[in-house]
Formats: sequence, C-alpha cells, structure tokens
Amino acid sequence: MSVYQATASAPVNIACIKYWGKRDTKLILPTNSSLSVTLDQDHLRSTTTSRADPSFKTDRLWLNGKEEEIKDVGRLSTCIKEMKRLRREVEDKNPNEPKLSTYGVHIASKNNFPTAAGLASSASGFAALVSSLAALYKLPATPSELSLISRQGSGSACRSLFGGYVAWEMGSASDGSDSLAIEVAPQSHWPDIHALICVVSDDKKGTSSTSGMQRTVETSPLLQHRIKHVVPERMEAIKKAILARDFDSFARITMQDSNQFHAVCLDTDPPIFYMNDVSRTIIAIITEYNRVSVENGGKLKAAYTYDAGPNAVIYAPKENLKEIISLIIKYFPQADAFKDPFNLFGAQGVGSGAIVPGFNEAVAKQFPVGSVKNLIHTRVGDGPRVLPAEEALLASSGLPK
Ligand code: DP6
Repeated sequence: MSVYQATASAPVNIACIKYWGKRDTKLILPTNSSLSVTLDQDHLRSTTTSRADPSFKTDRLWLNGKEEEIKDVGRLSTCIKEMKRLRREVEDKNPNEPKLSTYGVHIASKNNFPTAAGLASSASGFAALVSSLAALYKLPATPSELSLISRQGSGSACRSLFGGYVAWEMGSASDGSDSLAIEVAPQSHWPDIHALICVVSDDKKGTSSTSGMQRTVETSPLLQHRIKHVVPERMEAIKKAILARDFDSFARITMQDSNQFHAVCLDTDPPIFYMNDVSRTIIAIITEYNRVSVENGGKLKAAYTYDAGPNAVIYAPKENLKEIISLIIKYFPQADAFKDPFNLFGAQGVGSGAIVPGFNEAVAKQFPVGSVKNLIHTRVGDGPRVLPAEEALLASSGLPK
C-alpha cells in the first residue's frame, strides 16, 4: 500500500513595514501592505509532516508532540480545507490521481526554537503546514498562490512562503484573491543582511496581535493617517532601497515604521504597550551607535524593529555585527556564553562586551543579568524547503514519532 506523506520546513519573517489592522477579519485582509525579511531556517524554523490515509477518519494535528484541537470554523481548519480544495482540482483534471482530498490528514509540526523565547511561531508554523500539504498533494501552485492560504492561518504567515525580501500586497478584491505575498528580491540579491534577535524577558501577559490590531482599527485616528499617507510611500521607498542594497535608507525606513507601529498602539483606546524599558534602552543604544557613525561622515550601521512584544530585532550588514553584539552584551550581561554561529569572536569569545570609540556610554545604564535572556544571531534566508523522508515527524503508525 502506498504511503502518502510529505515533510517541509518554513522560515520566520520579521517585518520592516508592519502589518497592523484588518479590513476583513475572516479572510485576514490587511488595512495596509507590509514588507519583511525572511530569516535563515538553519537557525529558526518550523517543520511539518502531513500524511493522508483512507483509514484516517478525522484530520488531526500535533504541535511539538501535543495534540491540538482543530476547531470547525478556526484558522487551521480553513487552511486544511483550502488545501484539499486545490487537491480536488488536481484530481478532477487527472482521474488517475489517488483521491487524497477525500482522506483524513495527520499533521505533526515542531519549532526548533522554544515557544518561551517569545518569538512568533505562527508565521513559520502556517507556512510549513501549507508547504507540507502542497508537497503531499503535489499541487502545481506557486508560492504566491500558497501565500493566499497561509494568510488565512495568520496574516504574517503569507510572507514566510518566500525567502529573501518579501512584500505582502494588501490587494483590493473583497474575496482576498489579490492579497498575497510576492518576492521583492531573493536572499542571493543581498545576502549580507544579518539579524540579531534580543530575547527580552517579559512576565506580563501581552495583548495578542489579533485582538490588539482590531482595537487599533476601531479606535486609533493615527492608524487612518498611517494607512492612507505613510505606508504607500514607505513601501515604494523600501523596495527601492532593497533593490539598490542601500542599507542607510533601509535602516531609516525600518526604524521609522517600527516607531509608528508602536505609536498607533499607544494611540489605541485603551492604549497598548509592547515595548518595555529594556526595549527602549536598545533603541537608545542603536541610536547612539548610528549617531557616532553619521557624525563621522558615515551612514546608518544598524536598524532596530519591534513586533507585538518587547523583543528587539536588529538588522545590520554583517561587518557591523561584532560591534553590535559587543555593545548589547556590555549593557545586558548574559548568564550563558553567547552562541557565536558565525564565529565572529573566535576562541576567546565576546567576553563582557565593549563600546565603540566615541560612543557616549551614559546613554543607558547597565542592566542586571537576565534582562536580555538570549541573543540569536542569524541572517536573511531562503524560502520553504521540502525535506527528505528521514526528516518525517510521523511514525509509520501515523502518530508523532
Ligand atoms: C506586529 O500575523 O500574528 O508582527 O493575522 O491576526 O494572526 P494575525 O496577526 P499576526 O500579526 C503580526 C503583527 C506584527 C507585524 C508584522 O509581522 O507585520
């Protein structure tokens, strides 16, 4: 008997132009276009195995080994249904194809980073789910076509269908058929962009993206200004910066857009705060680092950006990462030795950090150990990968390994 199974992995993406607001909450259609950098799956990824079998009575899903309920009207069941619909089109065209669309599916998914790291896993998770089902069902769909479906799992997940530099074009159709991800430039166009993720400790339970952005749509007048007058120009400007590998413009726009996203959160009633003192101190450090460069006739050397939480993501050309990591560690001493995947510091390691010449040390005070829990150094990466059978997360029983 044939086994119908496929495994795929998908990357995390971090936006430079933020998605914040829906015009249709069911179809997940945004109030503005957005743009992100896909991060390297060698460091952060979700992996998913899907199997179709006539003996499976229902669709089932396990996340990191634990079974999750697939609610009838939920986002997961929408994505699975949509993928089965595309499979049916294949079967209708080729009557010899097995009728996988009529079988139940078992899906096992895992992240190679702890959920406790505070990194959004929904983007890579839904992108991996859709990619594994596309491989299982042998769909002729392009990444942009698949992005229409992962979008309905979580908006930002549509951008994880591509590597490199990715735009989510908001579209205008009411059925969502033109609200999809497109590649602005592949990873190979500008491979020099690295990212440092500063995992900031956070005890309080935050406002979820889904409910927070809805409240912003309902109450923030500033959001209306952002949608109409700010994002359209910024999208064009940042695409141009990426195509020209112009880090100075890329960095300026990225920081401005992160700031405006957090401003519309503050403009929401009641207000939403995602950044904390540690987040704001990292802004002060990057601002001072850039000031030193610019005042010496240079350009911006790093850009910070923050999503719906206190973690910082710092984008910079690779040559600046050594200085940036040293600076962050100087102000935020680490309990554990910095994992140095690009071997920037050699055998002696980064030690207790260092500031760069001309840097005004007084812009921030040193924080206690643990304020920044972890530093992850990664870079721009590729899109979803179909993996060999050995990587499968389901055993021959059809249950997670
Ligand atoms: C701040 O994609 O998590 O990270 O569509 O409701 O699932 P839903 O929201 P989600 O929101 C992401 C918001 C953001 C900005 C971004 O990634 O563009």
